[in-house]
Amino acid sequence: MKEYLSHLIFKTVSEESQKLGFQTYVVGGFVRDIYLKRDSKDVDFVTVGSGIALASAVQKRLKGSHFNVFKNFGTAQIKTDDWEFEFVGARKESYDRNSRKPKVEDGTFRDDIYRRDFTINTLAISLNQENYGELVDTFGGLQDLQSSIIRTPLDPHITFSDDPLRMMRAARFAAQLNFKIEENTLRALKTEAHRLSIISQERTTDELNKIILSRKPSIGFKILFNTKLLHEFFPEMVKLQGVEIREGKGHKDNFYHTLQVLDQCCQKTTDLWVRWSAILHDIAKPPTKRFVKGEGWTFHGHEDKGSRMVKPIFKRLKLPLGENMRKVINLVKLHLRPIALTKEYITDSAIRRLIFDAGEDLEDLMILCKSDITTKNKEKEKRFQANLINVEKNIAAVEERDRIRNWQPPIDGQQIMNVFGIGPSREIGEIKTALKDAILDGIITNEYDEAFKFVLEKGKELGLYKQ
Ligand code: CTP
Repeated sequence: MKEYLSHLIFKTVSEESQKLGFQTYVVGGFVRDIYLKRDSKDVDFVTVGSGIALASAVQKRLKGSHFNVFKNFGTAQIKTDDWEFEFVGARKESYDRNSRKPKVEDGTFRDDIYRRDFTINTLAISLNQENYGELVDTFGGLQDLQSSIIRTPLDPHITFSDDPLRMMRAARFAAQLNFKIEENTLRALKTEAHRLSIISQERTTDELNKIILSRKPSIGFKILFNTKLLHEFFPEMVKLQGVEIREGKGHKDNFYHTLQVLDQCCQKTTDLWVRWSAILHDIAKPPTKRFVKGEGWTFHGHEDKGSRMVKPIFKRLKLPLGENMRKVINLVKLHLRPIALTKEYITDSAIRRLIFDAGEDLEDLMILCKSDITTKNKEKEKRFQANLINVEKNIAAVEERDRIRNWQPPIDGQQIMNVFGIGPSREIGEIKTALKDAILDGIITNEYDEAFKFVLEKGKELGLYKQ
């Protein structure tokens, strides 16, 4: 801690605060992260006085720094190198139950600390001359940090009611830090969960993404599910939970299966969108579930239906609808294909098709498929993993021979239209598909001359004539 506090900024803030006659503290996540030995370059200062006046005095002494003032919030920010310093005057806030807009008044240091979310985030370090560098621990936050506990400083109903987003933050910190939520706090999460509805979807989703980016997101998702916070914004995922038994035949619980796939995926990639594909890979199992007499449970077409569910879910959750969503859709759609290639007699053409369909998502698809193995039988697991590694080898061999990835046939739609002197039409579409299939199936080679001959023949069959 000494090392941090000898940092120029803390000395400067302390001196300027003294000159202004303010009392100033470092608070929140930065202090928490010192004890957790997590690197953090975002520092929050609370001053009993004007945050803007203090920041402005400090900024004048920090060469090359950038200064932003948010008058409406009474806060100011200094950015220098990759550090970010936030200054705020100590506040007393009270909230209207139906809005996120708090009534803010100036307050004491204690008022400010009282209105924070969790005890571990109430820790503060004094920058005042008389006790510079001393930890101020009003709510036993250090003890909770050491016992890995998330607990609200006040009655949790008040803390959550003040800002319902804090319920998502509780699940997020539990997942990020692998902490337990204290019993009373957990009970309040259950009774207050419905109040998440006044929070904007963007803010809720932001916390959800932080859970997904943690080392073991299942911790956060189980909390969201058990408290019914998940029910507030993600009913499709809630529906995955449960096992039905008929004629003595059950199916796996797809909610817990999905969480295991997600955790396994997180050990292989930090990519948020591949992790989202793990969450959504079986999302259409509930709506496609059928019981076939004498056979058991089937989920036919869940990969196709699931891929079509991605966009509406992304839209509602206010996730971006661009290239990343396209990847998630593709991964959900193709997630059964590599497993289908573990059968004994697999043709090169089936492998070529997968390479063509997966395109640049092929590596991510293999990560998803390997994560999708959740059997408890160690022998089986070994065999399934080995099969997929074999598929990867086969893919590599075919790729090296054919260079099919990101491939386009040697003659495109426009050229075909020019050959026959007609515009876009069903016939042109048919010829394009037939040409692609013929090359992928190895009927003709991937060369212009052979492709041209094939296009002419196909056109003739369809009653078209070369111009
Ligand atoms: N805070 C709060 N309620 C919120 C958001 C924030 O009480 N809904 C308080 C907490 O004391 C928190 C501090 O404001 O420590 C700073 O918030 P923020 O930067 O969002 O979180 P950090 O705790 O710094 O954690 P992280 O950087 O991991 O988001």
